[in-house]
Amino acid sequence: MIRKKFIAANLKMHFDVAEASTYLHNLSKTLTSHREIEVVIAPSLVAIQPLSREIDVRKIKLAAQNAYFEDEGAYTGEVSFSMLKGIASYIIIGHSERRIYFHEENDVIAKKVKAALRNRMGPILCVGENITERRDGHAKRVINDQITSALSHLTEEEMHNIVIAYEPVWAISTFGNEQAMPDDVEKMINEIRKQITYLYGEKVAESVRVIYGGSVKADNVASYLAIPGCDGALVGGASLNYLEFNKIVQSCFNVMQS
Ligand code: PGA
Repeated sequence: MIRKKFIAANLKMHFDVAEASTYLHNLSKTLTSHREIEVVIAPSLVAIQPLSREIDVRKIKLAAQNAYFEDEGAYTGEVSFSMLKGIASYIIIGHSERRIYFHEENDVIAKKVKAALRNRMGPILCVGENITERRDGHAKRVINDQITSALSHLTEEEMHNIVIAYEPVWAISTFGNEQAMPDDVEKMINEIRKQITYLYGEKVAESVRVIYGGSVKADNVASYLAIPGCDGALVGGASLNYLEFNKIVQSCFNVMQS
């Protein structure tokens, strides 16, 4: 089964509406579209709606960075998945910054996955162990728990819309600047597919895209994309520069050609 590559920019809490619009404009002008690569940007919630009017979704798709799992109600300050329906194609769920700074636990993450699918958005589920869990030899268990709690109540059909981002917390630029070795990433990607196979069987596991995130840059992305079973990258800091992000997409194309 051919899995389309997936390269996403997580712009985090950067860029106001005007800046995000300029970024999109510059990126669209620079980017060469490739049929085999899906390019996605995740701007702030305030920018996503105006950008949805400017964007050519055949070239670049939009992802939201967060939403609340109830469709409507008295939840001051929240924006629901249903409000993003038709605006965002994807949504990042379970990012370590949300798990750590906003105390999002696995049960909330599972509800968000359901809400995204209910509202026709593809969840980009982030999973990853922290440095202590890794040192103590618990990395695989942590990943398996995160996957099982977030994904075990879905239909096979729903599973086809899931993208899993393996993002070891210690390799994300926010929390440290350690570089994950491609060999380690490969082991964890294999573990993720093993767990999906356990839950849904091999056919589903082969259809789910698994990408890598954590200090990905133009000069190291090829080493991750060359990993068998790695279907793309979730890029934070390096995506803020549209030229650098464009190079990452180009590098993905080069790896596919080689
Ligand atoms: P980084 O962020 O590329 O800056 O490490 C990745 C992420 O947080 O998704």
